[in-house]
Amino acid sequence: MTANPDPADSVLPLPDGKAAPVRHVGLIMDGNGRWAQARGLSRSDGHRHGLDSLRRMIRHAVRIGLEYVTIYSFSSENWNRPETEVSFLMSLLRRFVQRDLSEIHQANVRIRVIGDREGLEPGIRQLLVEAEQLTRANSGMTLVVAFNYGARDEITRAVRSIAQDVATGAIEPDAVTQEMIGDRLDTSGIPDPDLIIRTSGEMRLSNFLMWQAAYSEFYFCECHWPEFDEAAFDKALADYSSRERRFGGLSAKAL
Ligand code: IPE
Ligand code: IPE
Ligand code: MG
Repeated sequence: MTANPDPADSVLPLPDGKAAPVRHVGLIMDGNGRWAQARGLSRSDGHRHGLDSLRRMIRHAVRIGLEYVTIYSFSSENWNRPETEVSFLMSLLRRFVQRDLSEIHQANVRIRVIGDREGLEPGIRQLLVEAEQLTRANSGMTLVVAFNYGARDEITRAVRSIAQDVATGAIEPDAVTQEMIGDRLDTSGIPDPDLIIRTSGEMRLSNFLMWQAAYSEFYFCECHWPEFDEAAFDKALADYSSRERRFGGLSAKAL
């Protein structure tokens, strides 16, 4: 991994020479299990190969100068999987932090973790804190790790914290704004994702960044996460750069 270029360079050329900035990409890394099953491998093998793919995609994101990448690593509903798979996914997170943190740090990447930490075992919580603290002063790409994350849970926690402040009289109900809600989400300070990519052919959010994705562009590809590669990533970004985002307004052509 090399240190990423100035964020001002993080634009992708459009066919006509214009550039659409893409600051933040969300990755729903899906299909590890199906990828493995199709090869007669175990689901754990699928997750292991998924981690290899993740490493390559982080390097690629740094290389091309993305400012933020959010990876959906473990959802608040993934606890519903068999206990052996859950504990394997926990061990994979541990392995990722222990083996990859120094390379990530050297690449000037800052790590930020979103999700409910209370539900995680203390050892994992500690590792996540260490990863954030080691990389907090880095000025390159921010890697947002969504772990034990679910948007409904995140929004519920934000609403609860506002309700507490209203109950104590610290804020008036009328003072509750979209900005205040956004500031109380785990992603506070992080720009909304411009593009959300989901692999493996599923076309749903599965509780990922629901508030933040209000105006995100979506890109779905058939390939499973372990086979998602640099070319597939570039293809998604090229597709994004050909889209027109209107945010409820009118097309520039219509004005
Ligand atoms: C994504 O792959 C990884 C996680 C959810 C942790 P899956 O494990 O969901 O793979 P499929 O969807 O069963 O193929
Ligand atoms: C979403 O994938 C969660 C992650 C990628 C971590 P799932 O495989 O859990 O989603 P569903 O169950 O197919 O909606
Ligand atoms: Mg899945």
